[in-house]
Amino acid sequence: MNNSMNNELQNNLDRLHTTELGLSRIRKNLDLDISDIVDWCKQKVLTAGEIFRQGKNWYANCDDCVITINAHSYTIITAHKRKHIAVDKVDMSALPNPNATHPVQGFPVTYVKPTITRPNIIVGDFTYYSGEDFESRVTHHYEYYGDKLIIGKFCQIAAEVEFIMNGANHKMDGVSTFPFYIFAWEEDVPPLSDMPHKGDTIVGNDVWIGQNAVILPGVHIGDGAIIGASSVVGSNVDPYTIVVGNPAKAVRKRFDDELIALMQEFKWWDKGIDEIQDLIPLLHDNDLEHVKREIERRLEK
Ligand SMILES: CC(C)(COP(=O)(O)OP(=O)(O)OC[C@H]1O[C@@H](n2cnc3c(N)ncnc32)[C@H](O)[C@@H]1OP(=O)(O)O)[C@@H](O)C(=O)NCCC(=O)NCCS
Repeated sequence: MNNSMNNELQNNLDRLHTTELGLSRIRKNLDLDISDIVDWCKQKVLTAGEIFRQGKNWYANCDDCVITINAHSYTIITAHKRKHIAVDKVDMSALPNPNATHPVQGFPVTYVKPTITRPNIIVGDFTYYSGEDFESRVTHHYEYYGDKLIIGKFCQIAAEVEFIMNGANHKMDGVSTFPFYIFAWEEDVPPLSDMPHKGDTIVGNDVWIGQNAVILPGVHIGDGAIIGASSVVGSNVDPYTIVVGNPAKAVRKRFDDELIALMQEFKWWDKGIDEIQDLIPLLHDNDLEHVKREIERRLEK
């Protein structure tokens, strides 16, 4: 991707500088023991295989690391080692880019947000679906009903998950549920107020929805919840709760109430990409008491 945007960064190499925080991050992340970090970064940027701009930052993909630079001030924010284990599978030019439809080369997995065409489906950054056509998994979704499907950031939606929307529900308060009006019998279309309408379907952030799960209209699923494979979810799911089965019932909460409250206050999914990158070890740490203390420290409690 050696375009004019690259040249803009490479032509301004003399403007590159960093902060004390940047220096310590880069030294730590790359295990570097050299004095002139800025000069080292300049050489790297000059020979980078690829440079792309996303939002407020430039990302320079070098042979062994990725350098992040503020595109306005030319401050080197951080640098990270490239992950060689999966480098054949990962398209670094698309990371961490929430607008990449196919973020993992060779895998039929899509970031959902850039694939959405319907105005009543709203999906946050980095939420992915293990398949190609997420919208085909949102069924009976008609503009007439006006119901929305709202999904947060960083959700993991497995293959064949289905969101059934309000248009699926037949009128039930008469003795027959047959929708004569759809088949051109002489019956007026019932007003929306006569239809069973459960409202919007809302999924929080960092929710993992297992394969073949079905989410019924109007359900609210809290942040950090897990939906077991093939579950049928007909009622709301609390944050950080695992539900399984048909009808889906809570198996257990994932953490104690204190940690759940901290996670919902911390809202890691709303942080910037660089901060999330730094948080990854904490987000995968299974020493939960340590995680609590660290989040409390970051929340300045
Ligand atoms: C829900 C899940 C995460 C396991 O969570 P867990 O808290 O470790 O649950 P356990 O394995 O301890 O099981 C607890 C109980 O729920 C049952 N259970 C677990 N998953 C279930 C499911 N999907 N449907 C029905 N029951 C299920 C178990 O049989 C067990 O029942 P028991 O208490 O009567 O013995 C896992 O079973 C699952 O469904 N994962 C989804 C995998 C998937 O679809 N991945 C897609 C690719 S990303």
